[in-house]
Amino acid sequence: MAKILDGKKLSEEILLKLKREVTGLKEKYKKAPHLAVIMAGTYPPSIVYVNIKGKKAKEIGMDFTLFKMPETVEEQLVIKTINKLNRDKKINGIIVQLPLPKHLNERRILDHIAIEKDVDGLTTENIGALVSGYPYYIPCTPQGIMELVKLTKQKLEGKRAVIIGRSNIVGKPIAFLLLKEHCTVTLCHSRTRDLDREAASADILVVAIGRPHFVKGSWVKKAATVIDVGINRVEDKTSPKGYHLVGDVDFKAAVKKAAYITPVPGGVGPLTSIMLLKNTIESFKKNY
Ligand code: GUN
Repeated sequence: MAKILDGKKLSEEILLKLKREVTGLKEKYKKAPHLAVIMAGTYPPSIVYVNIKGKKAKEIGMDFTLFKMPETVEEQLVIKTINKLNRDKKINGIIVQLPLPKHLNERRILDHIAIEKDVDGLTTENIGALVSGYPYYIPCTPQGIMELVKLTKQKLEGKRAVIIGRSNIVGKPIAFLLLKEHCTVTLCHSRTRDLDREAASADILVVAIGRPHFVKGSWVKKAATVIDVGINRVEDKTSPKGYHLVGDVDFKAAVKKAAYITPVPGGVGPLTSIMLLKNTIESFKKNY
């Protein structure tokens, strides 16, 4: 049976450290780090995630401002808001919650965020820094994944890492983080041939494809480390919310083969917002 990598517990431990750090910064500078979040539309998971970010920020004494925009917002207004926040000395971090409504150009919008305030690490400039091996801000979910992998205390050098999912937000950045740790990295996606065989070669398997129970137990190598990034809502009439959450990995089967595995919920998820707060504190310290 695999050891469970408890992201909830780890996130609580890190949150405590960040709270102490913010308290110290407030004493020294008489002001708190300040995170600004832009959210366009009412995509239900985004509302949940943004609420968590706000709640956690307040919990550690950080200032948090949410700019809510309607689903139909014009791109120019989003960009104007970003430009204003870029110039605002009180703001240390700016993020645009994704996904954006379809009519908005995500890349064009993200790339208006000043690199010093891009605490999500999603601008072309920040991605370039990561790819070059000299990261500036590391995207939050991949940074959380690395914190969980560190819990296993294994030597990463020379290990085979297989990633399923090639998004800008998870798949691509985690590939470069693992490469930086000298893993041999294979970046797979939904159109990869013999995906089951690729997965079964992994010492470290990271799954971020957004399909419930996509990875079967037979795809998991014995004693592998399995990181499940998926958070999928599946209909459940017995639950008050009408759904429950499952990962991209068939946990029940994979837990029998892996050495380490992350649960869903309570694995990678809780770390994302914590890493965002960590990056915002870094920005405050770097650019004060
Ligand atoms: N949507 C889901 N995860 C994230 C994230 O980490 N950052 C942003 N901006 N949007 C997201």
